[in-house]
Amino acid sequence: MTTDFILQTQKLTKEFKGFIAVDKVDLNVRRGTIHAMIGPNGAGKTTCFNLLTKFIKPTSGSILFNGDNITTDAPAQIARRGIIRSFQISAVFPHLSVLENVRVALQRKLGTSFHFWRSEKSLDRLNARAMDLLREVDLEAYADTVTVELSYGRKRALEIATTMAMDPELMLLDEPTQGMGLEDVDRIRQLIKKVAANRTVLMVEHNMSVVASIADTITVLQRGATLAEGPYSEVSKNPAVIEAYMGSADTELVGAH
Ligand SMILES: Nc1ncnc2c1ncn2[C@@H]1O[C@H](COP(=O)(O)OP(=O)(O)OP(=O)(O)O)[C@@H](O)[C@H]1O
Ligand SMILES: [Mg+2]
Repeated sequence: MTTDFILQTQKLTKEFKGFIAVDKVDLNVRRGTIHAMIGPNGAGKTTCFNLLTKFIKPTSGSILFNGDNITTDAPAQIARRGIIRSFQISAVFPHLSVLENVRVALQRKLGTSFHFWRSEKSLDRLNARAMDLLREVDLEAYADTVTVELSYGRKRALEIATTMAMDPELMLLDEPTQGMGLEDVDRIRQLIKKVAANRTVLMVEHNMSVVASIADTITVLQRGATLAEGPYSEVSKNPAVIEAYMGSADTELVGAH
């Protein structure tokens, strides 16, 4: 087992009452890369994510994180190890300000260290760190805005900031650009690229131009099984992949980039 890979699954399988949603998946996520999981609707992408974050238990197979077998870890242990999924743990509070939302996330990361809260100096540090994170996602100017008033794309940027507040080693993003207009898609695309600079990102993404432009490696799932894994240039030429995408209206793999 090499430590080049931050996350690996071995024959990961999930069966729902006889229906195999994830079928012996061997996933190899290289440290420091952006790894995209794609596939037609119902291919098992979200189920895979749910298995990785321990939202559900695998029927069989194993999951390794930094070489450790984490198959039987509880969700809280997974988070403590540094695997954080955006849009799940980091749901934002609509009636708090943008800055307050990041502070809440930072506080969650710091946990229940009571002494921390007694010191004014540490609260100042918390605010400074929250502003740093807002700067990273280009929301500095919106620090005092009530979150509900943010545009959809900026809300998603805030969710990424709150996820980063948890200081993830591996960040999981399930369809980060879903439901966005072109401009917001591009903003989030650039943001993912930026936050991936010093961590690993595993994402499910339907937008093929996003995948083609930022993913180092792509895993294609079909009916729960891995159809192909490799860089976009290879995967997009794979006849089985082209075949799997034919007739699918919302996805266009060939010629997207
Ligand atoms: N709790 C469950 N019980 C039974 N079947 C399930 C359950 N969760 C998922 N499935 C089935 O497993 C298959 C894979 O679903 P999953 O949500 O993982 O697909 P997906 O690749 O994320 O699809 P999409 O692109 O539509 O988000 C689907 O056929 C789905 O109906
Ligand atoms: Mg899904």
